[in-house]
Amino acid sequence: MDIVCSTEEQALFERISSIAQGMQVHCYLVGGFVRDKILGRDTKDADIVCTGDGIALAQAVAASYPNRPQVNFFKTFGTAQFKLNGFDVEFVGARKESYSSDSRKPEVSEGTIEDDQRRRDFTINAMAISLNKENYGRLIDPFNGMEDLRNKILRTPLDPDITFSDDPLRMMRGIRFATQLGFVLEPETFEAISRNKERIKIVSQERVTDELNKIMVTPKPSVGFDLLYKSRLLHEFFPQMTELAGVEIIEGKGHKDNFYHTLQVLDNVAQRSDNLWLRWAAVLHDIAKPATKKFEEGHGWTFHGHEALGEKMTPRIFRQLKLPQNENMKFVAKLVGLHLRPIGLTKEDITDSAMRRLLFDAGADLEALMILCESDVTSKNKFKVKRYLENFELVKERLKVVEEKDRIRNWQPPIDGAEIMKIFGLAPSREVGILKTAVREAILDGIIPNDYAAAYGYVLQKAAEMDIKPVKQ
Ligand code: CTP
Repeated sequence: MDIVCSTEEQALFERISSIAQGMQVHCYLVGGFVRDKILGRDTKDADIVCTGDGIALAQAVAASYPNRPQVNFFKTFGTAQFKLNGFDVEFVGARKESYSSDSRKPEVSEGTIEDDQRRRDFTINAMAISLNKENYGRLIDPFNGMEDLRNKILRTPLDPDITFSDDPLRMMRGIRFATQLGFVLEPETFEAISRNKERIKIVSQERVTDELNKIMVTPKPSVGFDLLYKSRLLHEFFPQMTELAGVEIIEGKGHKDNFYHTLQVLDNVAQRSDNLWLRWAAVLHDIAKPATKKFEEGHGWTFHGHEALGEKMTPRIFRQLKLPQNENMKFVAKLVGLHLRPIGLTKEDITDSAMRRLLFDAGADLEALMILCESDVTSKNKFKVKRYLENFELVKERLKVVEEKDRIRNWQPPIDGAEIMKIFGLAPSREVGILKTAVREAILDGIIPNDYAAAYGYVLQKAAEMDIKPVKQ
């Protein structure tokens, strides 16, 4: 073989080879497994193409193991899969396949190995290794995938217009591979993405976002976003992000290009953390800048309230991109909303109560917030960057001191909403919220101490101001 396989993999492939021979079926290793083996990347699944019945071969191979792993198959697609000690093996009959322009349903007919290779996405994914007795282990590479792999080039086996129109998700995959592998999209292939970008609409948003998240978790996600922007594929499914791009100049004053600033922040976060959702917070932190942008006479460009509006936009964008509506979304929205707060604490004469307020609002997500803020420093002036980062270090130290003293991060006020309803005989209402907030704020501001008696006295006083009387106990 031209590739190095583990002993288990070799044993599996030899077994498949001899069972296939007995069934008079030809079969080949193909796709990502071959590519990743040649590149020396980890593999945890293998695709096997056979001329003939892939499902029958999969069943025969699975049945040859004493524990008879369960075979999952899809008759309509002619695919079958089973797991062997965590290793995924997938079988498919060689196909000719094309998609009609108005439908996602493939028309499939039986084909040769060359037919199958031709209808794959990129030349580096279209290499096959024979598992047939007569030429076992030989590389079959009709589209020079090996050369493209060496030169780090992504190119479609067929005319890219055909390859992309067969399955438009491949445009996303191409950009994802470019980002993940550090490859370059060959110019004609890239131009075809720009030409066919609207076809991405026939692909489900879940599949598009899945590729986007694969771009997000690479060490330098900006590479992928830049390609998505330049090909205008991004405009098709995430227009809000493209609106960040560009610089407007009035009276000789410009603002920064917020798209490229966002990409820089994203890369900075990626250097500091593997957390996908923190990376999403980087993508969204300035998302409301276009909507809040104003030129103020004698002052220049402002983006007042972009953090609050950005926080509000986050659930909508998550829904649009079919990202989860769960605590991860809440985390992203919270960070977007808070992303300017630590900057406010770098000024002089900051009180402990301002520190307490941030500790309370950020809670368990304070470290993530500080990473986002440090990553948001993208000035080209090295001295400025150094000064801002030093200021954040001072803020972090003071937050630590205040937290050690007051234990605010996991703190709950001594009187909660349920207690307030009981004291005053109130049903859930706006008044309960007002009283609850008043107690919390008074403690955070240091107006009253953090204990039940003080909170009780304070809430009675506040309620009296609102003409609310306690019920007799
Ligand atoms: N493939 C394709 N078009 C697609 C998806 C897949 O032509 N839209 C082909 C490629 O030959 C690919 C193979 O099917 O190599 C296996 O696909 P998949 O397992 O999704 O991707 P990998 O290439 O293995 O890469 P990764 O696991 O990183 O997604």
